[in-house]
Amino acid sequence: MKRNTLLSVGLGLTLLAGPSLAHIEKSEPLQSLRQSYFALLGMTFAPMGDMVKGKIEWNDDRFATWANDLNHAAQFGVERGFAPGTDKGTTRAKPNIWANMDDFQSKLADFRAAAAQLAETAAAGDAGASREQFVATGGTCKACHDEYKSQDYLY
Ligand code: HEC
Repeated sequence: MKRNTLLSVGLGLTLLAGPSLAHIEKSEPLQSLRQSYFALLGMTFAPMGDMVKGKIEWNDDRFATWANDLNHAAQFGVERGFAPGTDKGTTRAKPNIWANMDDFQSKLADFRAAAAQLAETAAAGDAGASREQFVATGGTCKACHDEYKSQDYLY
């Protein structure tokens, strides 16, 4: 009885780990972790940008929801994805990150502060102020990418 239970728990975990983790590169889990973080940022920030640029109709509530999602994603502890030794592999993370970790982390902190402010501004429902804070937040993405993200995959 006990053995059967253990067996089914084991099987359940195997089933979960199979398909749901299929996009994680097993030999580079931390690189996959940080890329998943940035993919989530990008896929939240991009539709907000479409709204700011007028490509899709402005909607206060939807913009505020995305800003809230961005803020929550931003606060996730992506730092562990930049552990020592993870500078190699299928990555766009430039090696200078690990030589300038304090500066990298301060740019991450700037971004998180901007994203938190964006969520707050968007929740207040002032479209003009939201647009301004969106642009300011984008500036914090760019500040980090200019220094620390390659256009192409390295290695
Ligand atoms: C503190 C630095 C930093 C900040 C802030 C930052 N990024 Fe990045 N971003 C990176 C690095 C480094 C990579 C490359 C990661 C890798 O390939 O291992 C990256 C990768 C990406 C990718 C590619 C993900 C993939 O692998 O397909 C997207 C999209 C992205 N960032 C969007 C954003 C957006 C949007 C923001 C702001 C809302 C942002 N980033 C803020 C450093 C940053």
